[in-house]
Amino acid sequence: MEIESISHDIVIVGGGGAGLRAAIAVAEADPQLSIGMVSKVYPMRSHTVSAEGGAAAVAREDDNFEMHGFDTVKGSDFLGDQDVIQYFVQEAPKELALLEHWGCPWSRNEDGSVATRAFGGMSTKRTWYATDKVGFHMLHSLFQHSMRFEQIVRYDEQFVTKLLVEDGVVRGVASLNIRDGVLRIIRGRAVILATGGAGKIFPFTTNGNIKTGDGMSLAYRAGVPLKDMEFVQYHPTGLPGTGILITEAARGEGGYLRNKDEERFLVERDYGVGTKAELGPRDMISRAIIQEIEAGRGLEGAHGQYMNLDLTHLGEEKIQARIPMVRELSKLYIDVDPVEAPIPIRPVVHYMMGGIDTDIDGATSIRGLYAAGECASVSLNGANRLGSNSLTECLVFGARAGRCAVDFSRGIDEGSDANLRAQAEEEVARIEALRNKRSGNEKISRLREELNTTMESGCGVYREEGSMQASCETIDVIKQRLADVSLQDGSRVFNTELIAAMELANMVDCAEAVARCAVVRKESRGAHTRRDHPHRDDQNFLHHSLAYYEPGSPPRVGTKPVTLGKWEPEERKY
Ligand code: FUM
Repeated sequence: MEIESISHDIVIVGGGGAGLRAAIAVAEADPQLSIGMVSKVYPMRSHTVSAEGGAAAVAREDDNFEMHGFDTVKGSDFLGDQDVIQYFVQEAPKELALLEHWGCPWSRNEDGSVATRAFGGMSTKRTWYATDKVGFHMLHSLFQHSMRFEQIVRYDEQFVTKLLVEDGVVRGVASLNIRDGVLRIIRGRAVILATGGAGKIFPFTTNGNIKTGDGMSLAYRAGVPLKDMEFVQYHPTGLPGTGILITEAARGEGGYLRNKDEERFLVERDYGVGTKAELGPRDMISRAIIQEIEAGRGLEGAHGQYMNLDLTHLGEEKIQARIPMVRELSKLYIDVDPVEAPIPIRPVVHYMMGGIDTDIDGATSIRGLYAAGECASVSLNGANRLGSNSLTECLVFGARAGRCAVDFSRGIDEGSDANLRAQAEEEVARIEALRNKRSGNEKISRLREELNTTMESGCGVYREEGSMQASCETIDVIKQRLADVSLQDGSRVFNTELIAAMELANMVDCAEAVARCAVVRKESRGAHTRRDHPHRDDQNFLHHSLAYYEPGSPPRVGTKPVTLGKWEPEERKY
């Protein structure tokens, strides 16, 4: 059967915050261009929707770009690229104001100015919010605005299985329509990946099921290195059992963290956060919680040890006005009303600082291929992201990637039809073989569970050589066992088992990059904390890590210089 081929000028993979922002930027840059937006879920189901606490940008008189820039550099443990950070802080307020014009209902102060709240590691209140449903409102605004542009053509519920690359230039994607199981070629003169992170490689995460590192794996297998993958962010406050996020806004609005003796341990002991206490950066607070538990000051619950997030002193009116969803989630999922009792919490995997290696334009090492948002590592976040920088990152760098992709597409032809068809035919054969695979001995769910377990034991909040090496070895074995997986569902229509098999392969790629880069980095920096190398080592490790795909063997790990600037590395203490 002939493989259908559709052509657009720009193809965007992913329909969340970064993807939608990129699409709008392309449409506005050149109304003549057609844009194909491919997403494995409907855009309003993208993971951006679940963001809660806010988006950072300078708004107040007591704030400036210098302060936001330095907070971000320091938060990154000096691994963020300073040119990227400078650009980000300058663009941030413009992007958030633009979003308001597109309908985002930012909360206001009494005098009508935009309200901002405190967030971890930020030196003043600079997190814009819409109560605690920020992702929902941002995504709605972006999605609705995108509907104004007829040239944005959506391919919802379609799973991209391969980047089509010819002579070092990306020419489009192979895309499997989940609804009917048919693979198509979607051609573009530039492709932007905006597929989100890979938090599902861990068992306990705030991330939705869709976050399986698909875009990272697509780029990696096509030859683009993954950068800084060892840096995985644990958010201090997840609900034990489910991993549901209890937003940092709860602490921004004045919440306390307490141990079993009801001590505010971040105040009582020196965990490096100084007077910031509950508003220290996430890496430090997550470590403090683990240390409190190890010292026997944790509370015991059905899902293991935890700490308490105490909001009772804030009062019902404030809780209801500022963080209503925290109350809603807590009541619904654990039957605790935070007006009356503390919420049990523990650190939970939330965000990947690492991702597809890009420059400040979002450009990768494959010509015409761009990436933005959590799937990318533009090097804004370095070794530790500050809460509320990532929603703004999706906007700032989604827009820039969109504009740069337009510029690139102007000087490039469509490539050879025959070559793309040959690649797509190989893809059809590969997917058909997988769909019809009944003879294997392995189950997707079992491999996924084993992958999760080894990532948590080897690459959690605290790491050490032996356990990381054990993870690498386990992942090697899982990779081999993946070839022996068996599927039960041979149908074409909504074959979610087939998608899960391909997602699992993507997750294995990402997990391997995390574990291998973690072993190589023999220091502690940001979220990468080694018990066997407890200090930062700027002499030997003030560089990015790059993981290169090597078919049939573990990735080759290389390095890339950090772009420094006016802020010299110094001890990171608050
Ligand atoms: O806690 C939160 O609301 C998370 C925000 C973020 O990750 O930026």
